[in-house]
Amino acid sequence: MPVLVETDSGVVPSLLRAMPAGSHAVAAADRMYVWLDQHSDEYVVALGPSLPLDLALSYAEDLRIAKPTVSVVLLRNSFDTEALTRSMHAGVRDVVATDDEKGLTKAVERAHQLYLALRGPGGARQMGRVVTVFSPKGGVGKTTTSVNLALALADKGARKVCLVDLDLAFGDVSITMQLFPTHSIEQAVGSEDSIDLAMIEGLLTRHEDSLTVLAAPAHPDVRERVTPLLISRILRALRDGFDYIVVDTSPSFDDATLTALDETDECVVVATLDVPTLKNVKVALETMDMLNIARGHRHLFLNRADAEVGIGVDKVENILGMPVTAQLQSAMDVVASTNSGTPIVTALPNHPASRAYNQLAASVTGEPIAVPAFVPDTVDATARSRGLFRRGRS
Ligand SMILES: Nc1ncnc2c1ncn2[C@@H]1O[C@H](COP(=O)(O)OP(=O)(O)OP(=O)(O)O)[C@@H](O)[C@H]1O
Ligand SMILES: [Mg+2]
Repeated sequence: MPVLVETDSGVVPSLLRAMPAGSHAVAAADRMYVWLDQHSDEYVVALGPSLPLDLALSYAEDLRIAKPTVSVVLLRNSFDTEALTRSMHAGVRDVVATDDEKGLTKAVERAHQLYLALRGPGGARQMGRVVTVFSPKGGVGKTTTSVNLALALADKGARKVCLVDLDLAFGDVSITMQLFPTHSIEQAVGSEDSIDLAMIEGLLTRHEDSLTVLAAPAHPDVRERVTPLLISRILRALRDGFDYIVVDTSPSFDDATLTALDETDECVVVATLDVPTLKNVKVALETMDMLNIARGHRHLFLNRADAEVGIGVDKVENILGMPVTAQLQSAMDVVASTNSGTPIVTALPNHPASRAYNQLAASVTGEPIAVPAFVPDTVDATARSRGLFRRGRS
């Protein structure tokens, strides 16, 4: 998730708007270095116009050697040939005018392409990433989010995605997707020592070419026999064959959820705008802090975020101490698409709900969003200007 170094908070929103969902700003270079140390998959740093040129170039010079897969994009209010030449020598990948939003978007995309070329399919295959969708509350939309997020990540076959239903007692991914699995995780019970990708592949149910599902057991009592060791071995085996493993969970910190969270690279936290849910999500986030789970890799998804309930996005962000990555109002189209067996991301790709799921997917991958960000008409002007509906940081 790209990072912008800029001290002037006045220019930060417009610069972040030109960068992918999930990008964030820091006011000092030392925080940028901390971020890079914690995120070995980072691919770009944008150095803002307030940084003096000499200082910016010294960072670029340093990163060129220390982090060769991280591109540096330099933003300047104005620049001349000498500044361009010095930037090139320092290893700056692109110099972009501060007001050139399109230029910045393109520069970040180029940085991402370069990163993929350096680290991606041409070299050793990247291990798949585990994305756990979690909420301590039931019925908030975890399964709906998991299914649509998995489809958005699959991006019509661009990525290989496996959706794992770890709500072992009452999993409803299959029914949500109108799948009729012949196998489930139940057939892996007892195979802790022999799990590999080929074996798991035999248990998967195909939804469409881009998405496969590891279904939950048909009967709740099987849950007792699915051990944490089995779950972690399954998730590790799936990393070998899939780009993303999306995990739907039950609404509690049970053994299965904790094991998934232990393995997780990215955690999507689903919340709704009611006090009990927010209280429980807050406690869950504090627990995750204590257990050191997915720090810096959390994405807050606000579901059923309807204007009339009396709690605004600002308040949620204050209570939870993290920004909202994407949000979605209550929408009958979401339910109708689910009921028809074609989740909304596939059924209505331009629907605001689909855009919210795509925005969430972009935050999870840290890649540029696949469809243009969308600001619903009902969003108030303050939220619009703060860009709350465009990006999130964690
Ligand atoms: N944005 C939305 N607008 C309208 N309905 C929604 C929305 N999101 C989810 N729903 C509906 O709410 C219900 C609960 O959603 P879902 O099953 O995804 O929640 P869950 O958190 O997985 O529940 P559980 O804790 O029982 O597993 C479903 O009927 C779903 O279609
Ligand atoms: Mg569910």
